[in-house]
Amino acid sequence: MAIFQVNSAVNLDIIAKESIEDLDDPDLFISKPASLKRKLNPEAESKTSSQSANNIRLAKRRAEEMAVLGPNSGHPSEEVLNKEPIRTALVSEELPIAEGGWVASDCSYVGAKKKHSLEELQSKKDFTRVPWKGKDTVCAIDAENRVVLVAVGKPDDPTYSCDAENMTNLMLEIGANTDWTKDELNSRRGKFASATCGWSHGNGQPHPMRLGGERQELMEAFVSNKCVERVAAHQSDSFARYFPKAHEEYRGRNEQLKERIPEFDGNIKGSVFNGCTANFGPNTWTYIHRDTRNAPGACAITAGGNFDSTKGGQLIVWDLRLIFDFPAGSTILLPSALFRHSNIPVRDGEQRVSFTQYTAGGIHRWLEYGGRTKEAFEIEDPEGYSKMLEEREGRWRKALEVFSTYDELKASGVVGSTTGTR
Ligand SMILES: [Fe+2]
Repeated sequence: MAIFQVNSAVNLDIIAKESIEDLDDPDLFISKPASLKRKLNPEAESKTSSQSANNIRLAKRRAEEMAVLGPNSGHPSEEVLNKEPIRTALVSEELPIAEGGWVASDCSYVGAKKKHSLEELQSKKDFTRVPWKGKDTVCAIDAENRVVLVAVGKPDDPTYSCDAENMTNLMLEIGANTDWTKDELNSRRGKFASATCGWSHGNGQPHPMRLGGERQELMEAFVSNKCVERVAAHQSDSFARYFPKAHEEYRGRNEQLKERIPEFDGNIKGSVFNGCTANFGPNTWTYIHRDTRNAPGACAITAGGNFDSTKGGQLIVWDLRLIFDFPAGSTILLPSALFRHSNIPVRDGEQRVSFTQYTAGGIHRWLEYGGRTKEAFEIEDPEGYSKMLEEREGRWRKALEVFSTYDELKASGVVGSTTGTR
């Protein structure tokens, strides 16, 4: 059986925050949990028992890899990607989580704004490129076999492609015809116009609320288009398919929210996610970032535009050491709160937009606190609050349980064959 494995022993040094803007190596970063050391995955670690058995196994694996990859090809073949997960050495337990597993820790990255090229990342930083064509579904798994990223095959339906294209054209039109402010064109994620809509909680709000602001009318009109609803529903359905436990949790939380806040009506028809962002481009490429306020389940990104996906627009997932070709109309699901990610810019004269959906971790936290803020919880129920604090340590482990293992998805027939992954 051919297995593709990413062995990425990455040295992530901790450096002083003051020097963020001065350096240009994004492998140097600041993270509140001080350690994000990589370990070899357990399969590799178990080598110590017998050196000769170890050598045989390594030689066999290398031969398998070579058979798949070809000498120095640097990436797996499409045929293998359709049938096998991409195995990474990620130790998810060491990802930067805060607030007992409700949201990710805030992080700043050195050189986050630097443009990176495929060549540089592959040759100098040992990244592996995944030549995904957006047709079949490809999963990446962590060291414990958890499915942590899914590049979702596009629905085999020309009307879906048509809707995705319509959404893209609409976004480009909105992007070009809106009088964006300077700040809107230069956010911490990149230099492109973007706007959000949906439900959120934080910043001293007593309860989750629908986002306000002067772009709400525009965004609510945008997301009510049938083409946007279709893409949003595909993102949500894919989330249900490949992250079934996380989807169930999000769905249940929505029911709880509806009970506590009767005016809660979700965000986009047919979607379990409560928030969305439209990145209008016209050349959307993000700096290295984490979406730290999102719940650490999974978020969905759909790319659109007119670009050669083998030359630009790729999604770089720094914590997995992977670069995904990301064709227009296709969708990738990943825990964007936890993984550092960015894009390679598309080429001059090309256009790229992206549409994302997620749920704010603060909403789930508010519900878990009994439909109140942390401050109200502490005052109104000191005993329950203390218990929550005691259980906080183990909460991240519990949060990781929402990720399915590859074997679980395979057993349910969701992955594992070319036909079963669509
Ligand atoms: Fe993001």
